[in-house]
Amino acid sequence: MQVSKPFSQACENNKGPLLAVLQQVLPESTHRNSRVLELGSGTGQHAAFFAPRLPWLSWQPTDQAHYLPGCRLWIEEARAAGADNLQAPIVLDVLQPLWPELEIDAAYSANTAHIMHWPAVEAMFHGLGQRLPSQGLFCLYGPFRYQGQHTSDSNVRFDSYLRQQDPGMGIRDLDELEPLASAAGFQLIADHAMPANNRTLVWQRQPHLALTK
Ligand SMILES: C[S@@+](CC[C@H](N)C(=O)[O-])C[C@H]1O[C@@H](n2cnc3c(N)ncnc32)[C@H](O)[C@@H]1O
Repeated sequence: MQVSKPFSQACENNKGPLLAVLQQVLPESTHRNSRVLELGSGTGQHAAFFAPRLPWLSWQPTDQAHYLPGCRLWIEEARAAGADNLQAPIVLDVLQPLWPELEIDAAYSANTAHIMHWPAVEAMFHGLGQRLPSQGLFCLYGPFRYQGQHTSDSNVRFDSYLRQQDPGMGIRDLDELEPLASAAGFQLIADHAMPANNRTLVWQRQPHLALTK
């Protein structure tokens, strides 16, 4: 079956600011040869843009199976252009009981927490907590609420649009995410303001914590 190359204008808009944060959070000085797991790669545009610009990282895109044919088109194009640190995308639904056997050092996910239903958000944190090493970073980009409050009128409208589409979706509150993160062994170490009322939250896997199974 012919697959057409997917395109997200939002990715085009946010990839530059996101790259600037990733260069700061995962610099070559401390992350040479780090293996980054991307959850919910979507079109693959972020992976295709970041990998050649962060050549000291190995970037592993993943998503639910039905996203992969389109995602592959972006990844193959970037690899053909020389991004040999970009891995072929593989299937990973965070709800699947067994995640792929991958050694990872850091994780990244964009615009997923408000799309995933809550059990998937829980599974994302739990799964990463099980797999990231001590000091490993998890960068999560998207819109978030703080103490029950939206950060903009446009996010209020976006949240109600999401919940009308599917009551399981919706902009997550940092106060709801923090218990999940903490139970998975993470501590929030940074919260970057991003364009269009988005944020990049950065959690670090803490050493020597007893994890909630
Ligand atoms: C709005 S798209 C974001 C895609 C891309 N990261 C971006 O920023 O354009 C939401 C993504 O969340 C992914 N997603 C939703 N539920 C998921 C799950 N259970 N496991 C893995 N990914 C999931 C979707 O497959 C989709 O790629």
